Amino acid sequence: MIIIGSDHGGYSLKEYIIEHLKENNIKYHDVGCFSQDSCDYPIIAKKLSKLLINDNKFIKGILVCGTGIGMSISANKIKGIRASVCSDAFSTKYTVLHNNANILCLGERVIGKGLALELVDIFINTKFSKEDRHINRIKLIEE
Ligand code: RB5
Repeated sequence: MIIIGSDHGGYSLKEYIIEHLKENNIKYHDVGCFSQDSCDYPIIAKKLSKLLINDNKFIKGILVCGTGIGMSISANKIKGIRASVCSDAFSTKYTVLHNNANILCLGERVIGKGLALELVDIFINTKFSKEDRHINRIKLIEE
């Protein structure tokens, strides 16, 4: 299951992504926010990240804010999270293949909706390469 969240700056794009997940019968859990009212992205990033790490029904997470940056900085504070802000297909593919990224961060004020859905699909459908050198580098990150 995909776990998804946003602050107010990413709310519209989160809702758009959720429609896309529904259309593709992809199960998801929405941790909020649930309106355009101003809220604090570190709270949502922490909530989603802890659920992702502690509940193995969640495979990958998506966090959306204005830039994607505040969400990624916050999520990466949680042990075991590898959150990447992406605005292009190549980075999105390789951050899963090589970095085993478990959260995709998107900026609603940075990219268009069409590109966002393309990146979501790449993120969900790409698998970690599991080559020794990449496994070792991820161990080094954890250390
Ligand atoms: C909210 O205005 C904005 O700062 C937030 O969505 C995000 O872009 C932070 O990184």
